Amino acid sequence: MPRGLWITFEGGDGSGKTTQAELLRAWCEQRGRRVVRTREPGGTEVGRTIREIVLHHRGDIGARAEALLFAADRSHHVRTVVSPAIERGEIVIQDRYLDSSVAYQGAARDLGPDEVRELSLWATEGALPDVTVLLDLDPGAARARLDADDKPFDRLEAEKADFHARVRDAYLRLAADEPGRFLVLDASLPVDEIASRIRDRVASHI
Ligand code: TYD
Repeated sequence: MPRGLWITFEGGDGSGKTTQAELLRAWCEQRGRRVVRTREPGGTEVGRTIREIVLHHRGDIGARAEALLFAADRSHHVRTVVSPAIERGEIVIQDRYLDSSVAYQGAARDLGPDEVRELSLWATEGALPDVTVLLDLDPGAARARLDADDKPFDRLEAEKADFHARVRDAYLRLAADEPGRFLVLDASLPVDEIASRIRDRVASHI
């Protein structure tokens, strides 16, 4: 049985995570691997209910409650989707994981990166991906991409420019702290070039 592998994609809103995750899925499948494509929040049925609350609830949600909702989604997702797939020897390709919580809730919402990371690690019994791809993009360029998409903003996308600048800085610090897990790529490069660099990194694991 092939070894299971867990790859997560991180980056600000509009950095191209989903496009790259789909290209990587196609490449892994061409190589004969089984792939589970998933995301947080919302990778399970319970998670889809939580996603609806954290992204679209109209009233106030306190920062700690928001962090706990993301952690609850994550806990159930890892236990019921991610870990079983890895145990079956499959490749999990996932949009967002705990680094999103550390950057958005820990840094941008000011709850404290270390506390939020500990919360997520408690929720998932310490689960960490093999590879985390950070698509780094200037928040101004990301906003232009989102505007061009013409979709209504969710609660987090609607935050001010300063919030997104803090998210970006936090991600870059996380990547500097864990160079073995992170692959940082300039999200303004051509799509094909980014995809090929991601494949190079993943190929060394499979
Ligand atoms: P995402 O699914 O990437 O949104 P979209 O499909 O619209 O691109 O992420 C939803 C939002 O949730 C995004 O703004 C980041 C935020 N988020 C957090 O704040 N904390 C978290 O732990 C996660 C997983 C996401």
